[in-house]
Amino acid sequence: MKDKLIIFDTTLRDGEQSPGASMTKDEKLRIAKALERMRVDVIEAGFPIASPGDFEAVRQVAESVKNSTVCGLARALDKDIDRAAAALKNAASARIHTFIATSPIHMREKLRMGPDQVLAQAVHAVKRARKYTDNVEFSPEDAGRSEIDFLCRVLEAVIDAGATTVNIPDTVGYNLPHQFGELIRQLIERVPNSDKAVFSVHCHNDLGLAVGNSLSAVLNGARQVECTINGLGERAGNAALEEIVMTVRTRQDVFPCDIGLDTTQIVHCSKLVSNITGFPVQPNKAIVGANAFAHESGIHQDGVMKSRETYEIMRAQDVGWHTNRMVLGKHSGRSAFRARLQDLGFEFEREEDLNAAFGRFKDLADKKHDIYDEDLLAMVTDAIHDAAQDRLKFVALKAVSETGETPKATIILSVDGIEKQAHAEGSGPVDATFKAIESIVASGCDLQLFSISNITTGADSQGEVTVRIDKGGRIINGQGADTDIVVASAKAYLNALNKALYTPPRTHPQAAAPV
Ligand code: KIV
Ligand code: ZN
Repeated sequence: MKDKLIIFDTTLRDGEQSPGASMTKDEKLRIAKALERMRVDVIEAGFPIASPGDFEAVRQVAESVKNSTVCGLARALDKDIDRAAAALKNAASARIHTFIATSPIHMREKLRMGPDQVLAQAVHAVKRARKYTDNVEFSPEDAGRSEIDFLCRVLEAVIDAGATTVNIPDTVGYNLPHQFGELIRQLIERVPNSDKAVFSVHCHNDLGLAVGNSLSAVLNGARQVECTINGLGERAGNAALEEIVMTVRTRQDVFPCDIGLDTTQIVHCSKLVSNITGFPVQPNKAIVGANAFAHESGIHQDGVMKSRETYEIMRAQDVGWHTNRMVLGKHSGRSAFRARLQDLGFEFEREEDLNAAFGRFKDLADKKHDIYDEDLLAMVTDAIHDAAQDRLKFVALKAVSETGETPKATIILSVDGIEKQAHAEGSGPVDATFKAIESIVASGCDLQLFSISNITTGADSQGEVTVRIDKGGRIINGQGADTDIVVASAKAYLNALNKALYTPPRTHPQAAAPV
């Protein structure tokens, strides 16, 4: 029997720290349920002390996920640990993940603490977390730039204090695969009680080495990898779950361990995270990019047709690509619609929500002949945005653009339930629409990015728009989808404004110095 490699997904925590990727509670719940369906071992659901919204999201994920361990992050501070424990109270299986930095630069510049103080605080934090659960993870932040002797002392002490997992983060993505593997090997060898805890790794992708470093660590004894869907995460991101999982699965000749995931859920999770966060997946991205299994050159096509193994090392359907098929059409009924959405991970608790979504589906089917899973995903995301307690809601839009004429837009919005209308001109219909919205809202936000892509192929495809805005240094993404791309743009802009103007700021776990 091979060892099990524990897959710890931090899309909802470190992934969400990616600028613009903030998610609502309902969006986090949808992703958590998809991760559970994929049989991820541990889901890091958030940083409960960050804000009341973050607390509530972790609490609800902990309540609804039954088959994965749900983890909450806490700095090595009593108030953080108590808050994480409260959020996780009803979890079927809970883990508290506490951390403090151990590198000379972080201790000196950020914490302004000496090594002995850091060690004492780490031990205290683990002991406090153990009062709530016997599943406690400790991370020495910036371990990748910490002194190995000090790391050994800290790890030995926290394992003695009750840490059951010790996670070694390469917080700034500085390490090289051979170095990082060697670090893990030495830590396991030198820490006297290393057999009492699972060694985990958490790699960032600043030099594009997060997956390579994580896998090198696994070859040297790590038995948990922390990763995110699509590699989402701070700066250049975290190690991509799909790449870790499929490498270990595909190269079982090399890895001394295996994973317990249902890999056929990978593409669905990737699309869901991309759709919710507005971070597109590049076409040539391994495993989940649109071209990952496409064979362009004649030589490759010929080879693949004769024998798939000539150019393919994995089967597209093993990661879930076969789900990209037409599922429903104009004549499909409510039960087929409900069943397909259930397959995609959506449960409607209230009959009215199902009816509202089905109404939208019928509207879409009138405009678009073939309805694919991607259409359903975008449509439900849009319906959820609409049903949310958003203060700004899209009502109607008339946008006119004609060669030789100035583009114009007239928009009707509902602001706190009261309809308001505005008209504006712009350099194009989207510009005119955004100006009309701004003449009502006066948000003071800067538009930083506007991107549009088609959800499926064909000229009748829905357009999916992502906007990124900056509100006083806070970066927020918004998404919208519609067969009319100007309407999709208006919805995306309103989605971003709702987050920017009406959600409170949050504490960043790694920014503030513990006091
Ligand atoms: O990158 C990092 O060091 C982290 C820790 C909180 C584990 O995200
Ligand atoms: Zn991180």
